[in-house]
Amino acid sequence: MGNMIIDGKQIAQHLKEEIREQVQQLATQNGRKPRLDVIIVGENPASKTYVRSKINATEFCGMDGELIALPKTTSQEELLRIIRDLNENEAVDGILVQLPLPKHIDEQEVIHAIAPEKDVDGFHPENVARLWLNQPAIVPCTPMGIMELLKQTHTPLAGRHAVVVGRSNIVGKPIAKLLLDENCTVTIAHSRTSDLAQICREADILVVAVGRSHLITGEMIKPGATVIDVGINRTEDGKLVGDVDFESASKVAGAITPVPGGVGPMTIAMLMRNTYQCYVSRISNE
Ligand code: GUN
Repeated sequence: MGNMIIDGKQIAQHLKEEIREQVQQLATQNGRKPRLDVIIVGENPASKTYVRSKINATEFCGMDGELIALPKTTSQEELLRIIRDLNENEAVDGILVQLPLPKHIDEQEVIHAIAPEKDVDGFHPENVARLWLNQPAIVPCTPMGIMELLKQTHTPLAGRHAVVVGRSNIVGKPIAKLLLDENCTVTIAHSRTSDLAQICREADILVVAVGRSHLITGEMIKPGATVIDVGINRTEDGKLVGDVDFESASKVAGAITPVPGGVGPMTIAMLMRNTYQCYVSRISNE
């Protein structure tokens, strides 16, 4: 069985280079760069790493990136006030609030406060509704990055069985919708699914976004299937691993994403694309 390792890092790099060129053109014409503001509340070490990567990517793409780091004691009111200021700020094209938020803050309230046209994560109810109604929407970054990987690896989708393991608002639900739009037959499995192994073995495309290392092993994969591992888990010795046991799975899969270097970099490339798109929409209204 051919087993291709999908190089998300390289594909993301090419995409960012393309975005950088497009940004350069429009920024010169319009006299201002796209700007993304990233808010982080508290000291979650993984979140700090992610937001740093997002800011670095804006710089690579020739955009302005503002990191707004707030103490974990920040009140919900204070956070909402900051978001409303950014909504009103004409220089800001994209607003991202890194999740998870501290327990005293209602995530849904915060997401709802972001202006839908600046919601680069695509988490606002208006964008979620638009996605599910097949209307123009800002689409969440990780699911779009997965679709881009499937496209660039020429994975056939129409008529094939896609199994999504995980039902989060950030990944599981939106990726199921995007696969459905490409005419996959989609199954969503989750923590209460009985006989997960059997369902996974029926997948031509297997997307795993749960957050449990070694959940999926080689014997749960159909020979030749495309396996997309969205998990980012840290082992006791500090190593990053996905939800898929790469060692056994890569022997069975036709194509598989590694962790790190698979989906993660694609999420960031798609965030750059969403920010650029928000900028394009906003300058055409200036
Ligand atoms: N936390 C984990 N993934 C994401 C994401 O895509 N966006 C935000 N804002 N927070 C996250």
